[in-house]
Amino acid sequence: MSDPAIGKRAAARAAADLVESGMRLGLGSGSTFLFALERLAERIQQDGLRIAGVATSNGTAEAARRLGVPLTTLDDVDRLDLAIDGADEIDPAKAMIKGGGAALVREKIVAASAREMVVIVDDSKCVLVLGKKFLLPVEVLPFGWQQTERKIAATGAVPTRRIGKDGKPLVTDNGNFILDCRYDGIPTPAALHDRLNAIPGVLDNGLFVGMAGRVLVGQKDGAVRRID
Ligand code: 5RP
Repeated sequence: MSDPAIGKRAAARAAADLVESGMRLGLGSGSTFLFALERLAERIQQDGLRIAGVATSNGTAEAARRLGVPLTTLDDVDRLDLAIDGADEIDPAKAMIKGGGAALVREKIVAASAREMVVIVDDSKCVLVLGKKFLLPVEVLPFGWQQTERKIAATGAVPTRRIGKDGKPLVTDNGNFILDCRYDGIPTPAALHDRLNAIPGVLDNGLFVGMAGRVLVGQKDGAVRRID
């Protein structure tokens, strides 16, 4: 197992162990979250844990069905108890870039529906300033997307439409495009978040500001550092 996988798995399993019977959960997306889903499935089988989860992507919904983790929908619950999800980058103020797996819109809706968002990352995701390495994903409507792209570029970004594994433009679970935006660092994430979301055609962007609750950071040796 490579080093990031050890940290991802450790953080994910620790988060899954915070879950109590009867909880309604937000189920994140990505490779780190998959480790948490596997641990939840284990606890359902071994300990009789009773939960229902809302998936943030079609991929997570499929994995939950395969592993026997019961699903529900946001329309069937008042509030979620916890949302557990990964991140692409997280800064010391717990602002994050998400959307590496193109699921940012549903991830944000689900996190905002939960009493707490528990974030699971390995050490490599912790940065001092967001957006120096990772490109910021922005989900845009296909209608007039190049107009939207120009307005996004005017915020200081170099956007590139994301291409899927099939070599064609990637289409999200919501039927939209992702523009991956290169910034030379994002020192004021809240301001950029609002500026991007004010552009017509932008559905949402991958900045999650003021949303993270507990953050579990998995280390290379399998230990977990907790930021409350
Ligand atoms: C998907 C996400 C993921 O949480 C993020 O990309 C982290 O992925 P991974 O756990 O595979 O490193 O935001 O849209």
